[in-house]
Amino acid sequence: MMKRQLKKNILCIGAGYVGAPTMAMIAEKCPDYKVTVVDINPVKIDAWNSDRLPIYEPGLEEIIRRNRGRNLFFSKDIEDAIRRNDIIFVSVNTPTKTFGTGAGMAADLQFVEKTARQILKCAESSKIVIEKSTLPVKTAQAMERILASGKDNVTFEVLSNPEFMAEGTAISDLENPDRVLIGSRETPGGLAARRELVRIYNRWVPPERIITSNLWSSELSKLVANAFLAQRVSSINSISALCEKTDADISEVAKAVGMDSRIGAKFLKAGVGFGGSCFKKDILNLVYLCRYYGLPEVADYWENVVRINTYQQDRFLATILSAMFNTLAGKRICLLGFAFKADTGDTRESPAISIAGKLLAEQAEVVISDPKALGNAAVDLADFAGRVRYVEDPYLAAKGCHALVIMTDWDLYRRLDYRKLYRSMVRPAFLFDGRNVADHAKCFALGFNVYPIGKPALSHFQPPSAVRG
Ligand code: UDX
Ligand code: UDX
Repeated sequence: MMKRQLKKNILCIGAGYVGAPTMAMIAEKCPDYKVTVVDINPVKIDAWNSDRLPIYEPGLEEIIRRNRGRNLFFSKDIEDAIRRNDIIFVSVNTPTKTFGTGAGMAADLQFVEKTARQILKCAESSKIVIEKSTLPVKTAQAMERILASGKDNVTFEVLSNPEFMAEGTAISDLENPDRVLIGSRETPGGLAARRELVRIYNRWVPPERIITSNLWSSELSKLVANAFLAQRVSSINSISALCEKTDADISEVAKAVGMDSRIGAKFLKAGVGFGGSCFKKDILNLVYLCRYYGLPEVADYWENVVRINTYQQDRFLATILSAMFNTLAGKRICLLGFAFKADTGDTRESPAISIAGKLLAEQAEVVISDPKALGNAAVDLADFAGRVRYVEDPYLAAKGCHALVIMTDWDLYRRLDYRKLYRSMVRPAFLFDGRNVADHAKCFALGFNVYPIGKPALSHFQPPSAVRG
């Protein structure tokens, strides 16, 4: 086999949900670039090099298989990789701080800072360092200051290039992004670094979708995009509460509102609340920044997006409790879905974690079913080991249960044989549809007492309008 000429070396530090798929796409689209991904967690690197990838994402396995060992490499030697690469993406995690000032709100930047110091320590030549992680506005300044404290002959340009892809659709989002945003300094060095990064994306992203800005706008835009998306979910969820009181139907309202081209139809699906590693963390981070800069009114405005999300989950639990005669003790309840959304095995901040915890606190027996997330669910609910059963097959999971609770919008749950499920359950059987995916009228006709989100409940005990007093 002829040895390929690889023109450029690109490194990504952090082989997580963001770093690994993004680098796989760059390797696919730039076959003449050598792309290396490193991580402090050696187990993760072994998994990326194996047949069992550490995350589930549609299309990811195929793209990794095609490029791994060709121009995409997963390595444990971070220091050597830093020395060999002049373009370095930083995609380490930035969780919410759990200690000290800003605990519960601010981003914990210790991993980003440690990574900057490691780059500084190992670098023998000048480098472009690209923030891929979502970071508070002005983090690039801290990165620059750390990186500028080293040898004079080695210089660094810091760019911001936030990733907007969503899990479950990561590969198609990366292949066909709405936009790629690159923030840089407006200095000759900053502009040259920006051109270098534009050249990479130019391989497959149309030029009009590659936008540039100053560093701070780029950092802030990522937080604001997530805040706006989450705000739409909280807005529709808040209205779902009103629908349940008034016999309006949230799907009809969302359709009517979303058809206004100024508003748009996306992100108007009412449900049991948003989850995922980003929305809550990024909004709390935005709230913290607003307070830090003396803008309490702005902070309060955004904090309510998170409050409504918690309220929606509490409301869902209250509906389950009151419909099931205010006692769940000893009743067996099946959660259909544990992932925070369909087409992923990721359970970070999934509403299912809090709902499962609350059902267990009510002394219910909990059975969890999910096609991809049972491993993560068992880790999330490790404190309840022995009190939760994990059953992948939804029909086996539902057997002998008093209620089904749909937590994730897996397509599978639209197509279930609800007659078969009903027949295997304890009567009266309940269906709480936290994602409005089942055919409610049909399930009611089968015998279920059906409780959707933002729609009239269908109960065999009470006339529809009296159900939610
Ligand atoms: C992360 C951030 O959470 C998010 O804010 C940002 O937008 C992108 O990066 P994600 O990829 O989902 O998102 O996180 P995760 O799957 O946890 O991956 C981060 C990886 O970085 C982990 O594999 C972790 O082991 C690694 N890491 C962490 C390092 O390699 N070095 C460190 O110092 C810290
Ligand atoms: C989000 C952003 O969409 C993405 O741009 C960013 O890079 C990372 O954060 P992600 O969290 O992976 O992506 O998934 P997303 O599709 O945004 O869904 C987030 C949550 O909102 C899920 O729990 C989903 O079920 C919920 N959601 C979404 C709704 O409840 N209703 C909707 O209409 C849309």
